[in-house]
Amino acid sequence: MGGNLQPEELEINQAVEILKLGGVGVIPTETVYGLACHALDSRAVQRVFEIKSRPSNHPLIVHIAVPGQESQLLDEIPKFWNELAGNFWPGALTLIGFKNTMVPDAVTAGLKTVAIRCPSHPIAQKVINQSGLPVAAPSANLFTQISPTQFEMLSPKILSQVDFALDGGPCHIGIESTVLDLTETTPRILRQGIISQLEIQKVLGIKIEVGSRSGDHKSPGQHHKHYSPHAKVHLVDHVEPSKPGIVFCQPENQFQIQMSSEPSEYARDLYAAMQKLDQPGTQDIYIECPPNSVDWNAIWDRLRRASG
Ligand code: TXA
Ligand code: MG
Repeated sequence: MGGNLQPEELEINQAVEILKLGGVGVIPTETVYGLACHALDSRAVQRVFEIKSRPSNHPLIVHIAVPGQESQLLDEIPKFWNELAGNFWPGALTLIGFKNTMVPDAVTAGLKTVAIRCPSHPIAQKVINQSGLPVAAPSANLFTQISPTQFEMLSPKILSQVDFALDGGPCHIGIESTVLDLTETTPRILRQGIISQLEIQKVLGIKIEVGSRSGDHKSPGQHHKHYSPHAKVHLVDHVEPSKPGIVFCQPENQFQIQMSSEPSEYARDLYAAMQKLDQPGTQDIYIECPPNSVDWNAIWDRLRRASG
C-alpha cells in the first residue's frame, strides 16, 4: 500500500482484501447500510445470513459497480432492463432478471431469478469497483429490525461479528431501494422506494404493476412484519401532547421528533427517528400520518410495515 493514502482509502483497501478472501463487512450505500460479501462465494453468503439471523429463504441483492456488469450474472438481459439501468443507475433501483449458473443458490434463496443493483454511494462504488466482485448485501440490520441509515445505528451484535465496518456518514436516501421485477411481461414493483412507479412509467412509456400478485410470494420477506422497532408503532392523525412520537408540527415534549413535510427529507430521517424513540421502556410510538398523495407511497409502505 502507498505511503500517502488517506485513512479512508486504507480502510477501503483493507475492506476490498477482506471481501476477496471471503470475509463479511458493513458498507454504506445511498439508501441504507449493507452487510457485504463476495456474491459468488456461498460460504461468505451463508455467513451474512447467520450474522443477520435471516431465514435462508430471503434472497439477497447483488451489487455491481458499473452498469453492464450484470450481463455476467444474468441468463439474458430482460426487456426494459437497459432503458431502466441507463436512466436510474447508479442509484436506488434494484432490477430482477433470470440468473445464470454463476450465481449461487445461496444468494437467491434457491430462486431462478436474481436481484441486481448498482449503488451510487462513492464508498460502495470504490469497494465494489476495486474488488472486481459482484457484492451481495442485504440491509445491515438484524432480521425484522430497522435498517441502519447512520453508522451509529448499527447494532453491536452485527458489529461484533463482521470483519470490517466502513463509516460513510448518514445515507442520503434513507429507505431501501425500489425493487422491480422484469421477469414477466409487465414490470412489477415488489418493494416501493424513492424511485416511484410514476418515474419508471415515464421512462418506459407503459403502465407497470405494484405489489405481488395475490397468492404469490414473489419477493420473499415482503409479507412479514418488517422494518420495525421493538415498541409498538401506532399511525395516528394527531400525536397527543404527552405521547412520544414522530410529528410534522412543533414537538410538544422531548420525546417527539419533528419531521420534514418534504417526502425525500422525511424518508432520509425516518429510520433514525424511529430508532431514537425506540428506547428500552418505551412501549408505544405514535406516528402522525403523512399526506395520502403518491409521493408518500414508499413512506406509507414502511410505516404500515413498522406498525405491523
Ligand atoms: O437499498 C437496498 O436495496 C439495500 C442496500 C444495502 O442496497 N439492500 C436491501 O437488501 O434492502 P435486503 O436484503 O434487506 O432486501 C432485499 C429485498 C427483499 O425484499 C427481497 O425479498 C428482495 O429484495 N429480493 C431479492 N432477490 C429477489 C428475487 N430474486 N426475487 C424477488 N425479490 C427479491
Ligand atoms: Mg432489509
